[in-house]
Amino acid sequence: MNSRRWSSLVLVTLVLAALQSGLSGVEAAPLGTWRVVKQNAGISSMHTAVTPNVGSVVMLDHTNSGPSNLTFPDGRCRNTTYDRILKYDCNAHSIVMDPDSGVLRPLMVWTDTWCSSGLFVADGSLQQTGGDFEGAKVTRSLAPECFAVEPVAKYCDWQQNNITNSSAPLGLKWPRWYSTNVLLPDGRQILFGGKNSKDSNEFSPPLPKNQPARTMAFLTMTTDSATCNTTSNPYCAVAANGPNNWYPYAYLLPNDTIFLFANRDAIMYDYKKDVVVRKYPKIPGNPRNYPSGGSSAMLPLRWEDDYQSADVMVCGGATNTSSPYALGSASCGRMTMTDPAANWTMEDMPIPRIMGELVLLPDCTMLIINGAMAGYQGFKTATAPILTPVLYSPIKTLGQRFTVLNPSITPRVYHSTANLLTDGSVMVAGSNTHSYYTFKKPANVVSKVFFPTELKVEAFLPPYALVAAGGRPTITSVDRTVVQLGQILQVFFTDYASGPATADTFIFTMNSSPWSTHSYSQGQRMVTLKVIGDIAFQPGSVVNGLPQYTRQASLAIPKYSSVLPPTYYMLWVVKNGNPSIKCTWIRITK
Ligand SMILES: *[C@@H]1O[C@H](CO)[C@@H](O)[C@H](O)[C@H]1NC(C)=O
Ligand SMILES: *[C@@H]1O[C@H](CO)[C@@H](O)[C@H](O)[C@H]1NC(C)=O
Ligand SMILES: *[C@@H]1O[C@H](CO)[C@@H](O)[C@H](O)[C@H]1NC(C)=O
Ligand SMILES: *[C@@H]1O[C@H](CO)[C@@H](O)[C@H](O)[C@H]1NC(C)=O
Ligand SMILES: *[C@@H]1O[C@H](CO)[C@@H](O)[C@H](O)[C@H]1NC(C)=O
Ligand SMILES: *[C@@H]1O[C@H](CO)[C@@H](O)[C@H](O)[C@H]1NC(C)=O
Ligand SMILES: *[C@@H]1O[C@H](CO)[C@@H](O)[C@H](O)[C@H]1NC(C)=O
Ligand SMILES: *[C@@H]1O[C@H](CO)[C@@H](O)[C@H](O)[C@H]1NC(C)=O
Repeated sequence: MNSRRWSSLVLVTLVLAALQSGLSGVEAAPLGTWRVVKQNAGISSMHTAVTPNVGSVVMLDHTNSGPSNLTFPDGRCRNTTYDRILKYDCNAHSIVMDPDSGVLRPLMVWTDTWCSSGLFVADGSLQQTGGDFEGAKVTRSLAPECFAVEPVAKYCDWQQNNITNSSAPLGLKWPRWYSTNVLLPDGRQILFGGKNSKDSNEFSPPLPKNQPARTMAFLTMTTDSATCNTTSNPYCAVAANGPNNWYPYAYLLPNDTIFLFANRDAIMYDYKKDVVVRKYPKIPGNPRNYPSGGSSAMLPLRWEDDYQSADVMVCGGATNTSSPYALGSASCGRMTMTDPAANWTMEDMPIPRIMGELVLLPDCTMLIINGAMAGYQGFKTATAPILTPVLYSPIKTLGQRFTVLNPSITPRVYHSTANLLTDGSVMVAGSNTHSYYTFKKPANVVSKVFFPTELKVEAFLPPYALVAAGGRPTITSVDRTVVQLGQILQVFFTDYASGPATADTFIFTMNSSPWSTHSYSQGQRMVTLKVIGDIAFQPGSVVNGLPQYTRQASLAIPKYSSVLPPTYYMLWVVKNGNPSIKCTWIRITK
């Protein structure tokens, strides 16, 4: 072991020790609870999404890499000519699971979805795009009728969109893996970049019909390669093992353009005209995208300014993509993308992090979870997994926004995921550090960089405000579940008294259900809703000695499809910081 490696290890150990001593100082506050969702889900999830209306979780790993830990129960097998390892494969590579009961149903997927992308679209179906090898140009869909887990014996599988039918060519123009999708107001997805994509974007479905992929100089210019000028670029240790621009971060902005971030650069892109509207300043610090392994989220859009301003967060990443031992970056940049003079405001996380996930919570805070403290994104390239989630409170004063929460016991490194569930907890899955499921360290692998393939699924319930502030309300009904943009929605709910009924503070929020993969949740967005008039309330019955209120609020749904592109959203009632014990799904239409 060379001395540099030793010094990095010592540094990591010191940071861990400092964190643990810091943790003991803040134990007074409740710091969240972990639970096991499923000890063995059979597959190690690389891509995870929570299904509209049903709330089950869809998980995918990949074909072309041997067996998973789950065989189809009834002798079903995938008999192909093209699989690289198992031409006759009786293992499931996708499942749908109930995160409450752990009951699951295997799903057939015909071609490889490795490092692909996808989103729920307007009709609530999950539309998945690309993958590896024979799957790279394929698009697939999972219909809403497949979201229910039971009956588990039912066949309801991923469908490959027919790419040979020339009147409906639904496949991709270029092979794509490591791409990012954005749902557009008109129901199409736009896909940005990724490996083998010729630095392009394209629409899926490809409308207008046969619209070609469009190359983007921005993606070419943000590609790092082995030749790095150490005089002009202080980040050559990261740049030397690029590209640092796969899985770019992309958000639909209120003015119907797209904010696209890759490496350290960002642009506002008019996808209709194929024009770069403006360029943003470079983020200070290291490159952020794959294989640097940073993460990003757009903070909630707010009714107070009629949804006109939008902030982005970009956090963490590698400082040296040649070393599994180099301490990662702790820096986060936050920028108001809609500000004409936008620039990054930097703040440091309490723990450096690569391969973290940023998950927007119903109370408008954000959870930073999963990943490792040292190394970079990839197989056997990271060390010192971070078991400790950190909460980010966007409205607090700069310098006071991070809170270190309770740790889990399970490393979640490369190919792990994090998703907000319908009960307000965050489910974590995967950590598939090896292309073949590997539970024991192979003899030729350094032990520090070995983590087993993880089949266990867990969930973390963030502390929120909990009982001290009156507990969590219950949504009892809504006047309808399909709501047009600009309409008023009535929500009825109950809560336990925690003082005078009028002293409570309520906010109403909506979250999309994103596609979590590779330390970035594509399609993640969130809004707050304006209450029209007063929240009506009536004292209700006394339950378990506690007086209950029955309340009703009229909520204004935003009128802009660029704020809420039509699809399904989770609606939350948040009382004194506590989200409702369940969300209600609302379908937004034009
Ligand atoms: C799953 O993995 C365990 C080892 O952890 C093994 O005993 C079991 O046979 C595997 N099951 C399948 C179906 O691969
Ligand atoms: C797989 O398909 C091939 C070609 O159709 C067939 O010859 C073979 O018997 C099948 N294998 C099994 C195990 O069913
Ligand atoms: C695709 O469509 C063609 C006819 O256009 C049909 O022959 C073929 O079987 C279809 N393939 C799949 C996978 O559905
Ligand atoms: C091809 O796709 C078009 C448009 O979706 C559809 O109308 C037609 O029936 C399909 N043809 C075949 C042979 O499947
Ligand atoms: C490296 O960058 C420096 C400073 O920008 C420049 O002067 C030099 O010519 C560059 N070297 C190469 C080989 O491009
Ligand atoms: C990055 O890591 C590699 C491999 O350990 C090492 O050789 C190199 O010196 C490091 N670069 C920097 C700038 O620390
Ligand atoms: C929104 O995009 C348009 C171009 O489509 C641009 O002219 C305008 O300046 C953008 N608005 C903001 C707030 O940046
Ligand atoms: C953005 O802020 C950085 C400091 O973080 C500064 O160096 C840079 O000049 C600023 N850029 C613009 C365009 O204001």
